[in-house]
Amino acid sequence: MKTQVGIIGAGPAGLVLANWLRKYGIESVIIELRSREYVEGRVRAGLVEQNTKDILKELGLDARMKKEGIVHDGVYLSFDEERVHIPFGELTGGRTISIYGQQEIVKDLTDAWLQEGGQLHFETKATKIVDFDTKNPKIHFEKDGEEEIMECDFVAACDGFHGIGRKTLPHKSFQSYDITYPFSWLGILAHVAPSTDELIYAYHENGFALHSLRSETVSRLYIQVDNDESVDNWSDDRIWSELSKRLATPGFELEEGPIFEKGITPMRSHMIDSLQSGRLFLSGDAAHIVPPTGGKGMNLAIADVKHLVDAFVDFYTNNSEVKMESYTRIALQRIWRAQDFSNFMTKLFHKQDAHGSFTYRLQKAKFDYLKVSRAYKTTIAENYVGLPFESFE
Ligand code: FAD
Ligand code: DHB
Repeated sequence: MKTQVGIIGAGPAGLVLANWLRKYGIESVIIELRSREYVEGRVRAGLVEQNTKDILKELGLDARMKKEGIVHDGVYLSFDEERVHIPFGELTGGRTISIYGQQEIVKDLTDAWLQEGGQLHFETKATKIVDFDTKNPKIHFEKDGEEEIMECDFVAACDGFHGIGRKTLPHKSFQSYDITYPFSWLGILAHVAPSTDELIYAYHENGFALHSLRSETVSRLYIQVDNDESVDNWSDDRIWSELSKRLATPGFELEEGPIFEKGITPMRSHMIDSLQSGRLFLSGDAAHIVPPTGGKGMNLAIADVKHLVDAFVDFYTNNSEVKMESYTRIALQRIWRAQDFSNFMTKLFHKQDAHGSFTYRLQKAKFDYLKVSRAYKTTIAENYVGLPFESFE
């Protein structure tokens, strides 16, 4: 098998990359470990930043998101049962977010790629990336028990946190940074109309809670739980009771409904400071993990791909390697910004120490400042909707 860009992984990063390269006449092939059913059914993020919306529009792949997604012009932030509203449009010159499930974006991108004849091999495992320090790198992969080789000009490892891309980078070529948080998120999907028109992030003495949504009849909610928790300890009643306590503010009532999905996600920050080696490039979760508070993971993955597309287009149309050489430097600016914002949101809204402790008082001082400062609200708004690409170029 031979192509120009060999892509490992059919998550948001790999699929956006393939669809975007095709617009410029650059050939690619995607290999994906899991089945199509598995990838399209995987419940993950739902917050789509302005930049991601703009990219999907530019690719002509935003029709269903425009129809079924929900545009939000603000967010509610709560602390000890007090609530502040952050109006995005007013503070950021009209930028907004949309709520539309990651797996719906993945379905739209997969359909578009396959409909136009794109090659995507499901249930195919990349086992080795070799010769990426030459002009002829290769991906070794296994399909139906057979070993095969894909020859390409470049390898894009969009293979998530557990993929082989990061493990293949020469160990001495990068430094890594990690934070493991002492709590996790229990996330649910429930058949019930959202009790809010915009997302609510809440600090409560029992721990963090987030009310998000998916549609007029489906709500997505999360609560902070201990790292060693199991979903088996969380009956539907216990979840709803905890959510209503943690999201409470005067006059607010949480509607309950049947829960049809429950899962626990650990929280970590992970970074490496080089996303490339020779002709191997990493994008998305393959290179970085942010804690989910603030919904940056998928958006960051797609932002990396924008810079990678710029680099490949420059190479294939201008025979220039300038943008390729600066891929890591350009992408890392946004990634570190998102790491900081996700860490800030996590620390502001999660219970980290006893209620009333010094840490708690610092959290509360931040929230009290937020209530009175337009500048502080603007900082949160512009990070939340995502800074424009020009800010980092
Ligand atoms: P992925 O979506 O992980 O895609 C990588 C793909 O590569 C996968 O399909 C994988 O099967 C494939 N792959 C891996 N190894 C191989 C191999 N050897 N060969 C071939 N294919 C391979 N973010 C938020 O903002 N909010 C959330 O609530 C949230 N919840 C999450 C819950 C979970 C359980 C996880 C894991 C992530 C969550 N995220 C969340 C993060 C967000 O979903 C990711 O940032 C996003 O999926 C990154 O996209 P990606 O394309 O880089 O990686
Ligand atoms: C969602 C997830 C997030 O991590 C977040 O900060 C906001 C929304 C969601 O799944 O809808």
